Amino acid sequence: MIRKGVILAGGKGTRLDPLTRAISKQLLPVYDKPMIFYPLSLLMRCGIREVLLVTSPEWVGSYRSVLGDGSQWGVEIDFIVQEQATGVPDGLVLAREWLAGEGCCFILGDNLFFGNLDPVREAVALTTGARIFAMPTREPERFGIVELDAEDKVLSVVEKPTAPCSDLAIPGVYFFDKYAPDHAAQLTPSARGETEICDLMQAYLRQEKLTCRRLGRGFVWLDGGTPADLLEAGNFVATMEKRMGYELACLEEIAWRAGWISDEQLENLILNQPSATRADYLRTLM
Ligand code: TTP
Repeated sequence: MIRKGVILAGGKGTRLDPLTRAISKQLLPVYDKPMIFYPLSLLMRCGIREVLLVTSPEWVGSYRSVLGDGSQWGVEIDFIVQEQATGVPDGLVLAREWLAGEGCCFILGDNLFFGNLDPVREAVALTTGARIFAMPTREPERFGIVELDAEDKVLSVVEKPTAPCSDLAIPGVYFFDKYAPDHAAQLTPSARGETEICDLMQAYLRQEKLTCRRLGRGFVWLDGGTPADLLEAGNFVATMEKRMGYELACLEEIAWRAGWISDEQLENLILNQPSATRADYLRTLM
């Protein structure tokens, strides 16, 4: 059973320069919320209440002031600094002590997930091995790609292939057992000078412990890595919220619906809510 979540919110954000000179990528707005709220909302919707945020030394203070300790949303958020952007799996090496021998849901801080999360939620029951997900893409050369056989058994995993053998991208949410920090510590940097998450998956694949689930059409996966992606994600959230009248990644709402905060706590959040529009929205929930 997975109870812990690790969010990767470091990195260089070079593709978003000069925006990322002013602010960390995962604090940039996706319509009405900082990007980091979206991966955090996924963890919360999976019932995960212990969260570790990995970020860079220059921004850790900003994350602390935006997120606090999480208690306002009924979760516990800890922070750890990654001194250099040496690679995504290095986040697991840093998280080793915090994980204290448990597995985790590992999620990229610039990935956004909406819609039917059932296949992701089911992965919380993982006790051994690693679980990844597969989503069709028209641009396989941009992502980690998984090749599956007719029974959805994983045949191979390749990072940004030049000659893709499949069109199934691996979204930035992964579940790993307690051995992930050990495997991650064994990885060596790739040609681009970073350790690669696909290499970690391959370590599990070699042991025949990597499983994959396809995400269906009811699932939406976006990211905020480039200016165009960021705009697209913001437009998606704006469209959905305007059309349906409910908020996406509303952490107060998720916490309250899960029973992690009481009516009284929600009322207090409403009273202290500076935005009248948000206060009204939260009031309608009750
Ligand atoms: P990327 O988008 O691959 O890298 P980046 O954020 O540095 O951006 P760019 O390629 O434009 O320079 O990273 C994916 C996610 O992982 C993102 O949320 C940042 C995070 N990350 C870390 O926390 N530490 C790291 O060492 C790396 C490489 C990424």
